[in-house]
Amino acid sequence: MTLRYARITGWGRYVPARRLTNYDLEQLVDTNDEWITHNTGIRERRIAEPQETAVDMALEASRIALERAQVRPEDLNLIIFATSTPDYFVPAAASLLQDRLGARGVPAFDLTAGCTGSIYAMVTATQFIKTGMYERVLVIGSEKVSPGIDYTDRNTAIMFGDGAGAVVFEASNAPTGILSFELGSDGALWDALYCPGGGGANPFSQKVLDNRENYLRMDGKRVFKFAVKAMTRSIQNVVESSGLPFSEIDFLIPHQSNLRIIEMTTHRLKMDPSKVMVNLDRYGNTSAAAIPIALAEAADQGRIKEGDHIVLAGFGSGMTWGSVVMHWEPTRPAEEQAILVENWPVREALQLQANKMRAAVWSAQVTARTKAQEASMSVMLPFYTWQRKRRKAKEQQAVEDSGEQQG
Ligand code: COA
Repeated sequence: MTLRYARITGWGRYVPARRLTNYDLEQLVDTNDEWITHNTGIRERRIAEPQETAVDMALEASRIALERAQVRPEDLNLIIFATSTPDYFVPAAASLLQDRLGARGVPAFDLTAGCTGSIYAMVTATQFIKTGMYERVLVIGSEKVSPGIDYTDRNTAIMFGDGAGAVVFEASNAPTGILSFELGSDGALWDALYCPGGGGANPFSQKVLDNRENYLRMDGKRVFKFAVKAMTRSIQNVVESSGLPFSEIDFLIPHQSNLRIIEMTTHRLKMDPSKVMVNLDRYGNTSAAAIPIALAEAADQGRIKEGDHIVLAGFGSGMTWGSVVMHWEPTRPAEEQAILVENWPVREALQLQANKMRAAVWSAQVTARTKAQEASMSVMLPFYTWQRKRRKAKEQQAVEDSGEQQG
């Protein structure tokens, strides 16, 4: 069977215009630019306007990504929207985006894994493509974190910002895209970073508002320790399982949360800091949007090049973590471009035929495998039966012999 891969062919990013600098924060909480810059590396973050939502930002980033990939929204097979800050609890942000994009009928769902959400989503998209089920998947990480931040709590106020990143994955026969991955979570640490009110455990009420339980709470030290340990170990594991030597990794895109976390991780991995993406100084931590924004920015700035092997690594609430080794080759080779037939009915007919053929091959493979298993069982069964009887007889003999000796 031909192996299929998921090639990234498009990427896009969007951040709101409004800047919240460290100097602005000095007016809100007891903090200062020097402390924030020294302890986190963050200088400013972007804050969405009141009427601007995660879906609005996702729409901007998605349009850029689709345009670059030259994929029409209606030609997508799936939309995965990584977010912890959807526009509504119900329905999914993915459904709103699907409608706004004009991607009629395309399946769409949200995925929540904190700041690691976009890595989980990219891995999920790749699985749908690798199985042969889907050809084109749009992955988005978009967050409007700011309404969930208590701007009287200097612990979280300094850290988070809003934004969106999007990536288009398309099927490919060439070994590209995600080559290896690791996902993980340790739910025992759930309360290191969480929002106490507004969910099923503590529904919205006046008490929630009075106690400011509708805002994010964070045990910074616990998260810091977890982040360095989880990212270092996960990057080591994922590079090892890719089969590539560490020297072959050209670039690292870590979750953008705190520069000190990135520095400690890369120091432990003995990575050259010039090969590490950092843009948190301008955007802060945009949660699930951080990695797709950083990926899109690195690609736009030419910091990652065709043929590079890059590592994306993240951590987030849950606590979760995830890493991938990715071969970056967004340009489709000529033979893959040839299947992009512009005429829709012809393309649909071709696709139908291709799907039918793939289904026929798959069913033939299953039949062949089942027959082979049946045949091998019918040959081996008498042997297994004989073996079992012989073993039982030996055990029986051993019991009798030991009885005689004792007698
Ligand atoms: N401004 C000024 N001073 C501050 C401050 C702030 N925002 N926050 C803490 N301080 C002061 C404290 O009062 C304390 O002073 P003291 O030693 O005189 O008592 C000192 O700095 C250390 O405080 P502490 O609360 O221990 O801070 P920290 O060193 O743990 O740093 C974080 C706080 C949040 C920057 C850090 O813990 C962190 O980045 N953690 C990871 C968070 C993260 O990545 N979250 C996202 C997960 S997806």
